[in-house]
Amino acid sequence: MSKKILLLPGDGIGPEIVAEAEKVLNKLVETSDFEVELEHGLLGGCATDALGNPYPEKTQQQAREADAILLGAVGGPKWEAIDRPLRPERGLLAIRADLDLFANLRPAMLYPQLAEASSLKPEVVAGLDIMIVRELTSGIYFGQPRGIEGEGAQKEGGRHAWNALTYTEFEIERIGRRAFEIAMKRDKRVCSIDKANVLEVSELWREVMERVAKDYPEVELSHMYVDNAAMQLVRAPKQFDVMVADNLFGDILSDQASMLSGSIGMLPSASLNSSGFGMYEPVHGSAPDIAGQNIANPLATILSLSMLLRYSLDRADLADRIDAAVNTVLDSGLRTGDIGGTATCTDMGDAVVAAL
Ligand SMILES: NC(=O)c1ccc[n+]([C@@H]2O[C@H](COP(=O)([O-])OP(=O)(O)OC[C@H]3O[C@@H](n4cnc5c(N)ncnc54)[C@H](O)[C@@H]3O)[C@@H](O)[C@H]2O)c1
Repeated sequence: MSKKILLLPGDGIGPEIVAEAEKVLNKLVETSDFEVELEHGLLGGCATDALGNPYPEKTQQQAREADAILLGAVGGPKWEAIDRPLRPERGLLAIRADLDLFANLRPAMLYPQLAEASSLKPEVVAGLDIMIVRELTSGIYFGQPRGIEGEGAQKEGGRHAWNALTYTEFEIERIGRRAFEIAMKRDKRVCSIDKANVLEVSELWREVMERVAKDYPEVELSHMYVDNAAMQLVRAPKQFDVMVADNLFGDILSDQASMLSGSIGMLPSASLNSSGFGMYEPVHGSAPDIAGQNIANPLATILSLSMLLRYSLDRADLADRIDAAVNTVLDSGLRTGDIGGTATCTDMGDAVVAAL
């Protein structure tokens, strides 16, 4: 049965990198039994310009009818001074909320060919392949009550500000299940990150993870305090397979882990809801400084397409083909500027297509 994929190129380098991923997708269709119906839509600054809304109704409808979404990136200096509700980033937050994309998947991987690009020693990071699963729609970023006292508040110690770290069992369980399901498709190990020696929320987090683990007997569950995890990520990052963390810990650890791989132009990501529906996008932004020059690295977007096929469309065979093709291209020495070469964005896309 044909699958509907919605392409949202967005702003800046978005259209350039998504065009390369589209070529890769077309090549897969040409050389397999995979059938796809492609739609293009507007999100971000381009949508504000065309329709006066960064997440217009037409896109909302397209998103709800799609089986998966591939996004380029949104934003740029052109829209920085406009009214907040019209800003490109508002479109991104709105689509995530609209589709209840609570699970953020951030792989940190380092192709051995690029080991020199990392700030760590090549032998520590070569072949790194971690998946960080971050809870995206709850925790301390959303907890109530929250607030800050205004000027003039009379209190010993000065003004007072507060945020609440809250999680329900339901929220912990659904992110836990997502992490275990992903581990089943990988090396079958989950490391749950918490601060259970200090926080009650972490005690509940740990208890629920233990309970979820019973439904996945093939997966090995371990627990690690977040401070130790931060240390282990730079000491011996290859010990991890899947890491699952709440919104705050996951935010920090996923940024830390992504930098182990040296280049932001190589990193894909996914945001999923409970039915497995997902939006896939490179970790980087719209890179306005290099937009329109055909020099962006499209590999993070092409690898996001690989994740889309693996996690939302259950086509690991096609995802494996993309991953292998990217490997072949890197083996050949082809590099865009961000990873130390002079190849263009289209050179890179063409090379992946040829390797397929
Ligand atoms: N999910 C998203 O759409 C998203 C994420 C982050 C930032 N943004 C937006 O993107 C705009 C620019 O943000 P920024 O400059 O902080 O981050 P950025 O990731 O766009 O760029 C940071 C640096 O990395 C380079 N870079 C990024 N992607 C690259 C690629 N594929 N190939 C080669 N080089 C690449 C850029 O040229 C720049 O020098 C802002 O408007 C920001 O709000 C959007």
